[in-house]
Amino acid sequence: MLLSGHGMVSDEIIRDAAQQVHTPFYLYDESIIADKCRQVLNMPNAFGLRVGYAMKANSNKAILQLIHQLGFYIDASSLNEVKRAYLAGIPLSHIMLTTQEAPLGEDRKQLENFISKGLKYNVCSLLQLQLIADFAAQRQIPLSIRVHPGVGAGESPSRNTGDHYSCFGIHLTDIDKALFFAAEKGLKFTMVHTHIGSGGDPLEWRDNIDRELGFVHKYFPDATTVNLGGGFKEARMPDETASDINDLGLYAQDRFKKFDQKNGRKLVMAVEPGTYLVANSGYLVCTVLDKKQTGPTGFEFLVLDGGMESNARPLFYGSRHPFYVVSRTGELLSSEYNLQSLDSENDQRVVVGRCCESGDSQSLDREGNIIPRVMANPEIGDYVIIGGVGAYCSAMSPHNYNSYIQSPELLLRQDGAIQMIRKPQTLEQMVINELPL
Ligand SMILES: Cc1ncc(COP(=O)(O)O)c(C=O)c1O
Repeated sequence: MLLSGHGMVSDEIIRDAAQQVHTPFYLYDESIIADKCRQVLNMPNAFGLRVGYAMKANSNKAILQLIHQLGFYIDASSLNEVKRAYLAGIPLSHIMLTTQEAPLGEDRKQLENFISKGLKYNVCSLLQLQLIADFAAQRQIPLSIRVHPGVGAGESPSRNTGDHYSCFGIHLTDIDKALFFAAEKGLKFTMVHTHIGSGGDPLEWRDNIDRELGFVHKYFPDATTVNLGGGFKEARMPDETASDINDLGLYAQDRFKKFDQKNGRKLVMAVEPGTYLVANSGYLVCTVLDKKQTGPTGFEFLVLDGGMESNARPLFYGSRHPFYVVSRTGELLSSEYNLQSLDSENDQRVVVGRCCESGDSQSLDREGNIIPRVMANPEIGDYVIIGGVGAYCSAMSPHNYNSYIQSPELLLRQDGAIQMIRKPQTLEQMVINELPL
């Protein structure tokens, strides 16, 4: 039986994969990634669409190659991410750097070398602009500029990148300074970029289209591409609603057309999602190691061999992920998408990891309180699978906390083959750079 209904991962596949590697492991479903990529590639637009993948969401080499082959450029958030994408075989001309770093010394030389070979640079601060100005002006390299619009939206406050609590991009109140400086140097901004946050209300994302076109008109006569960033909301849980990509595209198409009618400028639209492309492709497959309870006023706990060191989103953001319970013989015992046969009072359980940390739970609210969830009662040795872990899980979790190894990653190919795309880390690799007293 399929685990969630939109991909190929089934309880039998989990059993087969678990015969190849020890739990915990990540399993990604290529068919979901390909389907999501197609949806974004088909977004309605007025005068052309440039699609990027924010590799911070999941930077595994095979995932980068897959998404790039489907026609996406790569949005990198550090010089190291640029190098990582390049090592995965992605040409520099298909990578854009949007970073908080203002690289100096050897890093600066490397950045300039990459830019001269085609890397697109999205200037995110006045200092970054000053540092790159002479190099870009001498070679007449057009730049992109990330504008801080002063308004944002995110799944949680820490995922809002557009309000005044976050400092991404050059704030609108500093744009005059940036433009004055750029004009003195003879620099051109051909792309204007915003990214207002991750997983926020789609209506806010829509509003940002109008806001951004507004300041493109006011400040950026040379812009030919308007980058609306990433942040499309994905529904990881059955009661969540994902952004309607088609609807957002239609809205943008209309606004870009009206902009052209008024100003005679046919702007290309760019988007660069991370979450939307990969989040629901990923499953973290864990084994139930132990069961405990905390008395009549407490909870029933399932202790898994994977937790915050593989998926820290519940701990960081209070995010919810779906649970599936599968017996060790491969039978689906419960699915977040079909809980009717369970008793909503007596089948409440709390899923925790094995780290010595009370926040190591896969079910927390935004204040860090444990929230029990309805699910089948597995035996020790059965699997609990955490869904929706394709984005910001492997890439962002505090691996090696409590000295647990970085979990292996598998990819379920569209032909049904299960391919290892990251080997399990070894304990030797974990300590290799440490030196004795
Ligand atoms: C500049 C930029 N673009 C795109 C993204 C991708 O966001 P999401 O994964 O929510 O689509 C991010 C994420 O933080 C970002 O910082």
